[in-house]
Amino acid sequence: MTNWLFLPCSTRPNGNSLALARAAAAYLPAGGRAEWFDLATPALPRFADLRASGGHAAPAGRLAELAAATLAADELVIASPVYWYGLAGPGHEMLDHWSGWLEVPQMRFAATMRGKRLWLISVRADPTHGSQAPLEDVMRRTARWMGLRFGGALHGLGDAPGEVLRDAEALARARGFFAAPEE
Ligand SMILES: Cc1cc2nc3c(=O)[nH]c(=O)nc-3n(C[C@H](O)[C@H](O)[C@H](O)COP(=O)(O)O)c2cc1C
Repeated sequence: MTNWLFLPCSTRPNGNSLALARAAAAYLPAGGRAEWFDLATPALPRFADLRASGGHAAPAGRLAELAAATLAADELVIASPVYWYGLAGPGHEMLDHWSGWLEVPQMRFAATMRGKRLWLISVRADPTHGSQAPLEDVMRRTARWMGLRFGGALHGLGDAPGEVLRDAEALARARGFFAAPEE
C-alpha cells in the first residue's frame, strides 16, 4: 500500500489547484491510498525560528497531525495556486515548520523524509511562458535539499474558481501524471 498525502494550499475553498489535484488523484496508481490535509483551513500556527535558542519542541495539535501524516506518507503532493511566482502562504508555512522539525531529534525528520517523493501541482492565471518556473524550481531544490525524490510538476491555467477544468492540456496530463515519476 502506497500512502499518498495531498496537501492543498489554496486560501479559498474549491479552487483550481484543488480541482486539478483531484483530477490527477482520480488516476492514482493501483495500491495507492490518498489522504488529504488542507494546509489553509484551519490555518497552521505561525512558524517562529527558535533554532538559535534550541527551542523547537515536538509539534502539538494540528501541527502534530500534519507531522504524523507527513512522516507516514510515501508520496507528498503539494497542490498550490501560484502566488507571486511562488508557493501560496499555507504551503510555505508548512515548509517553514519542516525547518523546526529538523531540530527535534526524536522526530527523526530528516532520516524519515529521505527517499519519499515530492510532487507539485499548481494553477496560475498568467499564461506567460515560464511564469510557473520559479515555483517549480523552488520545489525541485527543496526536494533535493531534503533528500526527497521529485516526482514531477503538473501545471494548469485558470483564474476564476473551476476555470482550470477547461484547461484540456492540463487535464490530459493529469491522467498519467502519477504513473510516470521523474525520479
Ligand atoms: C495573492 C495572489 C497572488 C497571485 N499571484 C499570481 C502569480 O504570481 N502568477 C499567476 O499566474 N497568478 C497569480 N495569482 C492568480 C492565481 O494563481 C489563480 O487565480 C489561481 O487559479 C488560484 O488558484 P486556486 O483557485 O487554487 O486558489 C495570484 C492570486 C492571488 C490571490
